[in-house]
Amino acid sequence: MTILTNKKWVIGNWKMNPASVDTVFEFCRLFTTQLKNNKVWQEKTMVGIAPSFVHLGLLDYALSQECQDEPELPIMLVSQDVAYHTQAVGAFTGDVSATQISELAEWTLVGHSERRQYYGENDQVLRTKIDNAQNAGLGVIFCIGETKEQYQAGKTLAVLDEQLSILKDLAVDNLLVAYEPVWAIGTGLTPTTAEISNAHRHITNTLATLRTSATPVLYGGSVNDKNASEIANCQGVDGVLVGGASLKADAFAHIIWAFCE
Ligand code: PGA
Repeated sequence: MTILTNKKWVIGNWKMNPASVDTVFEFCRLFTTQLKNNKVWQEKTMVGIAPSFVHLGLLDYALSQECQDEPELPIMLVSQDVAYHTQAVGAFTGDVSATQISELAEWTLVGHSERRQYYGENDQVLRTKIDNAQNAGLGVIFCIGETKEQYQAGKTLAVLDEQLSILKDLAVDNLLVAYEPVWAIGTGLTPTTAEISNAHRHITNTLATLRTSATPVLYGGSVNDKNASEIANCQGVDGVLVGGASLKADAFAHIIWAFCE
């Protein structure tokens, strides 16, 4: 895993989907067919998928099954979360630790707005999760974004600064930031391209005051095969974190093509 790349990042977040193992296999069949037909993406993009824990090993297996007679496609496996209480192992029923995940995945999401909202994850919890992940050798995709109320009150940039402040003095390189306005997630709404560029510029400037390493900034929130090109062309967008559209092999492949143009 390396962050030292000019490639664009296209990461799928499957959330708590799909319902069945068969659907994972079917996705892999369709998705790998698309990716085998057009290999330009390997030069231009870093592609990853974050399935639920129960599908992490399965996705790895299903992807390799589709590439039996040829080199495996470089698709990164990403976890959606890591345990807070320990990086290692222990008596924490229902949790999955960074050490366990690191045998399968290269990256993990931390701080997705659904984790903040439904599980009450605060700054202290998120910083510990980041440290756990990085101590276990996982790269972190740290998600930030303002709510609709904060957006309407003109507080977006201040909220982003506050969320970013927990990255202070994080020594490691393998970090991506995903800017995902909460009001854009799963709603079909997106900020204007000017708003996206403005937020990304601000995030990059703030990151420069907190850390010395360059940190790619991804956009997330209702990215689909129709708007991907426009978003790919936004100044400061180093890639995307895609929810709903990453479950459809065709749509997800089209989003990848948009970042190859
Ligand atoms: P969405 O989700 O693409 O379905 O809006 C994005 C995300 O939550 O990462």
